Amino acid sequence: MFEALNPLPQDPILAMMARYQRDEDPRKLDLGIGVYKDEQGNTPIMQAVQKAEQLLLLKETTKSYMGPAGSAGFNRLIAELVFGKKHQVIKDNRVISAQTPGGCGALRMGAEFLRGLNDTSRIWVSTPTWANHLPLLGGAGLEIAEYPYYDYAEKTLQFDAMMATLEKASAGDFVLIHGCCHNPSGADLSREQWQAVAALLERKGLIPFIDMAYQGLGDGLAEDAYGVRLLADRLPEMLVATSCSKNFGLYRERTGTLFLIGANAEHTANAGSQLFSKIRSHYSMPPSHGAAIVETILGDYKLSHLWQQELQEMRERIQYLRRSLVRKLANAGVDRDFSFIQQQYGMFSFLGITPEQVEQLRIKYSIYMIESSRMNVAGLNDKRMDDFVSALAEVLQQHS
Ligand code: LMR
Repeated sequence: MFEALNPLPQDPILAMMARYQRDEDPRKLDLGIGVYKDEQGNTPIMQAVQKAEQLLLLKETTKSYMGPAGSAGFNRLIAELVFGKKHQVIKDNRVISAQTPGGCGALRMGAEFLRGLNDTSRIWVSTPTWANHLPLLGGAGLEIAEYPYYDYAEKTLQFDAMMATLEKASAGDFVLIHGCCHNPSGADLSREQWQAVAALLERKGLIPFIDMAYQGLGDGLAEDAYGVRLLADRLPEMLVATSCSKNFGLYRERTGTLFLIGANAEHTANAGSQLFSKIRSHYSMPPSHGAAIVETILGDYKLSHLWQQELQEMRERIQYLRRSLVRKLANAGVDRDFSFIQQQYGMFSFLGITPEQVEQLRIKYSIYMIESSRMNVAGLNDKRMDDFVSALAEVLQQHS
């Protein structure tokens, strides 16, 4: 039977990761997949995570099943991190949470839940968006529509066009919005823009689905949650997918959360029962280890403080790398304005170079980024910055 199958193209981000791993050039530089790297180019385990794992080894007493929602303690602590401890939706029991296998698990189960409500559910996603959003949401059977988001020529948000397109959405449609650190553009909504989006969603009866995979890597833990908290204040219903891959560095532990918010406690509980039934029929229940680490950290004052310090260092280092890159490109006499990189948030920015120039960087210098020119700024470091700047300057000059 398998002889009739053709190979499928690989996801562009994972394909780039595999290509990088195969490259034997000692100069190789990975600015592809969204993974934080330190000054040495490593992705170390955070100290808070290591300490929590040691504690877990001592205190864990069972490996018995947990149920489709996962750990109640983890879910409560992540809800507090995302919405803030005193948020009204928490006080009113309007949030139901499921610990999920990564942010992908949360997005997919959110999509499965929405598809289960209605045969013709439509979700609007930003153009561009993270490559895996389309298969995760579309694969559950949601119809995908697109709203303009990033202007490649101007290197800014296309906010007016975004709003004009969402005006055309129908009541009951869902709108996927990146909570912070937009992947792939790094261009985020301002507070005023979030307020305008909230007003539009409210007036038109649209339901937001927030993907917040980078809380704490933009402006700060609370600052990055401004939009999600505002929408939770204003709207009767929403979904939120979060991930601990980046802010806890738990990539391979697949640790995420899906939140459903309903208009009241009863509606929310009913929605939760539908979600848990979907989870049961997909993977039954989430893996435990990553969430147990996060629960141990957030449940312990000292560990939580240590984690926040480490996260702050990561965030500030990314901001520093953004500034340093812009400054060095200007000092190298590159005749193009890259200052937008400094105004953007999180791991990613589009360099705004052509696919051919991206290819030249890879072929000549073993510098890897996604073909769209999305680069992971967090893959840079002081030691390699000058190499990168001179390679980019040369490619810009020779292949413009
Ligand atoms: C990325 O966008 O590079 C990350 O979110 C990793 C992934 O799974 O694609």
